[in-house]
Amino acid sequence: MTDPISTHLPVEGDPPPFLLPILEAGAAAPSSHNSQPWLFRVTKAGAIEVHADISRGLPVVDPDDRELVISCGAALQNMRVALRAAGWTDEIEIVADLKGTGHLATLTPGAKHTPTERETALAGAIELRRTVRSRFEPEVPPFPLVERLLESVEEEASWLRVIADVDREELAVLVGAGDRTQMQLKSFRRELAAWMRPNHSKRQDGMPGFTMGFGELMSAIGPVVVRTFDLGKSQAARDEELVLHSPLLLVLGTTRDDPTSWMHAGMALERVLLELAAEGWFASFLNQAVEVGLLRGDLATLVGEPRGFPQIVLRVGRATPGKAPPRRDVDDMLIEE
Ligand SMILES: Cc1cc2nc3c(=O)[nH]c(=O)nc-3n(C[C@H](O)[C@H](O)[C@H](O)COP(=O)(O)O)c2cc1C
Repeated sequence: MTDPISTHLPVEGDPPPFLLPILEAGAAAPSSHNSQPWLFRVTKAGAIEVHADISRGLPVVDPDDRELVISCGAALQNMRVALRAAGWTDEIEIVADLKGTGHLATLTPGAKHTPTERETALAGAIELRRTVRSRFEPEVPPFPLVERLLESVEEEASWLRVIADVDREELAVLVGAGDRTQMQLKSFRRELAAWMRPNHSKRQDGMPGFTMGFGELMSAIGPVVVRTFDLGKSQAARDEELVLHSPLLLVLGTTRDDPTSWMHAGMALERVLLELAAEGWFASFLNQAVEVGLLRGDLATLVGEPRGFPQIVLRVGRATPGKAPPRRDVDDMLIEE
């Protein structure tokens, strides 16, 4: 039953309407500071290329564009999940030409297929998933779900480690040290503040105050406060608390540390987040000990991967999710011919 996607394509012009929901799924992916650092190009054959939008990089917190590429990997995963749920098989080629053309990957739709229940559930989770920064309820994710996360990540050429209770304190120390190191840097605070938005901002990127639990006033003055004062001590105390009391803590990593591995890490990350969201679980990021180079080796050792590369630290739990932060229109993410 082959029904090549090319038979559904106009010869030229805008992306065909049936690809729009796939591109929108890509746009819904998480990204550091909600920078949405991706561009999409629809080829004449109906493939979707993912490109890095370097102009949306975060030079202070992410000088190598590692998190930028991870975000693009997450967008690619969302598009693959949406494509499969829409009834197409897929083929993915990782290009990872970060320093050259910026072309990171190509997603090519294949033959028609009947989506499985799991594929449909994962696609449904794309709009349910969001970063929840509040404290989670104490309920711990069941073991079969954690097992599924471990298997999913392996399929994406990455590894996932669960932080044991005895290691929580050490992780808390690393995260707290990361907070203090980052926040004492004026350039870090300036960059973070530049992506913080008042709650009623019309901007379609960045982080509105409500995603950090801020009311009207705090969302308006938050960027000034962050830019001006070193809040590292209080931030560290808050994050250490979160580490000590999170129902589940995960570290996702790779065996190498290059753009290809970062794309895989992004795909693995989004798989984890979608598997969780499909079952009503949410996650939040605690990446400080990865972002601060001097702490990354200690984190690798803590999770038993001294020669590996931690990429993302997540805490997981149940919560009531708030409103989703905005996204730019897909039109603004397209590379036109
Ligand atoms: C690679 C990556 C790194 C991130 N790092 C952090 C982080 O250190 N702290 C944090 O609170 N959120 C972090 N986030 C979450 C983003 O801020 C979030 O995805 C974005 O604001 C969009 O919100 P959403 O996930 O609810 O759609 C990260 C996301 C990605 C993909």
